[in-house]
This record gives sequence, C-alpha cells and structure tokens, in this order.
Amino acid sequence: MSDDPRIDTSVAHPARRYDYLLGGKDNFEADRRSAAEIVKRHPTARLSAQENRFFMHRAVRYMARRGIRQFLDIGTGIPTSPNTHEIAQEIEPAARIVYVDNDPLVLVHARALLTGTEQGRTTYIEADLRDPAKILADSEVRDTLDLTEPVGLLLIAVLHFIRDDDDPAAILGTLIDALPAGSVVAASHATPEYMPAEQVATLRAVMERQWRDRTGTELRELFTRPDLRLLGPGIQSVARWWPDEAPQPRPAVESVASNGVMAEIRRT
Ligand SMILES: C[S@@+](CC[C@H](N)C(=O)[O-])C[C@H]1O[C@@H](n2cnc3c(N)ncnc32)[C@H](O)[C@@H]1O
Repeated sequence: MSDDPRIDTSVAHPARRYDYLLGGKDNFEADRRSAAEIVKRHPTARLSAQENRFFMHRAVRYMARRGIRQFLDIGTGIPTSPNTHEIAQEIEPAARIVYVDNDPLVLVHARALLTGTEQGRTTYIEADLRDPAKILADSEVRDTLDLTEPVGLLLIAVLHFIRDDDDPAAILGTLIDALPAGSVVAASHATPEYMPAEQVATLRAVMERQWRDRTGTELRELFTRPDLRLLGPGIQSVARWWPDEAPQPRPAVESVASNGVMAEIRRT
C-alpha cells in the first residue's frame, strides 16, 4: 500500500469500487459498502462492469487490427488483466500505450503492473480528463505517442464521471482536435434507458455527486461532429456491440445498462 496522503480509504472511489465489482482485491471497506449499495439497486452491476471490460477488449482488438499502433486510455482503472497494452501488444508488440487516471491509487498499482513488451512502450500519467489540454501537453504523452499518426482513444466507463457543467463535449472536442485522421475513439457510458425510472432514481441517489448517466441520444450528441464517423452499430448497448466476437451467451441490455460507441476521425 501507499503512504500517499491523497489516498483516502474511508471514502468510496470509482476505481476501487469498480475493481471490487470486477472481483479485484485493491479496494477498501468504503468501496465494498458503496458497491453493495449499488448491487442492491442494480443486481447485475458486476456483469455490467465485466461487459464494459469485454467491450474495451473488442474495441482495442479492432483498433490494433486496423493498424493503430498507439493508444491513449483515459480513466484506465486499477489494472485488470487483460489491460489495453496486453491486448494491443499481442497483435502488435510494438504498440505504445499511455494510461491516464486521476485516482492516486491507480498510480500505485500502475507502477507495478503496467509493464509492456520490449518493442512497445507502456506508460502511465496521473491526470484529469477534465483538463484534456494538460494531458495532451504532458511530456510523457508527447514522448510516447506520435500525434501525427493515428491514435486509439479509449474513454471506457469514464465519461459518466464528467458532469454537464464540466462540458464533456468540449473535453471530447479538445482530444479529437489533437488527433489525426484515421484515429478511432471508443467510449462506453452508463445509461438510464434500459431501467425503470424508480430504479434509476435509487441508483443515482447512491452514486457520488459527479455521476451523470446519459441516454444513447445524449451520448450520440457528444459524438456528433463533422470530423467523426460512427463505426459498427453506432450507439448501442455494449452487450450488443459486435456480439459475435464477445463471450457467449450475451446478456440482456437491461442487465448491462451501458452503451458503447466507436467513431473514426476524418479530416478533409
Ligand atoms: C469505472 S472505472 C473504468 C476503468 C476502465 N476504463 C474500465 O472500463 O475497465 C472509471 C475510472 O475512471 C477514473 N476517472 C474518473 N473520473 C476521472 C477523471 N476526471 N479523470 C481521469 N480519470 C477519471 C476513475 O478513477 C476510474 O479508474
């Protein structure tokens, strides 16, 4: 464990709670209590977390097979194998990955776990998605990624921690503007649309202040830009995204309550 005074184990944190839902061990009593409150209201929350990971696996595989050799994974979470670099470097050992998270505990584990191939490079920075310009200007990002070549941008299960007053469209815009044509953005996002309204209300009540689920329509709005072309089925439950490549059987969309989106960046 770390002596970092910023790591407050008495309050639930998204990364540690998610780790617990995924069956990990890097979490504390407050995280487990918060996860239990969520499971009470959304009994398939563990499945939902797992399905987000599976969607991320398919997205990274798609990007790597398409020839993308560098990845910016923001809202990485506590490492859970296979991580982005393991999937990408299995297809392309020289793939380079920058992980970004704002939870100091992720940094503790990232140092120990995020080791890449000899040919590739895997690195981690502690930074906040709400300040995308700072992420893009970071020397580690600049040293690892060549922003004149296509990048795979991953925003998996993180945008719902960005409130409307933090302007998610502007955040996304800053990141997209910095990436060249041929780059691909993948995101997954908690949605209220597959749940009864009472369930949504009780779930929102137990999440932290910054939680903001968004419907598929709201997610589509974020991804509606002239330089983005939606890929695959567009905005769709992660349970239904390229189902043939996903572990079987596929769960019901109601159990997962999360939408996925992938879009290619085009420049004219
Ligand atoms: C639900 S986890 C998802 C982890 C991983 N992307 C996945 O899908 O398995 C959300 C992660 O986003 C991180 N996060 C939340 N808000 C963030 C922000 N503003 N900037 C950077 N990371 C953030 C949390 O610390 C947590 O690790």
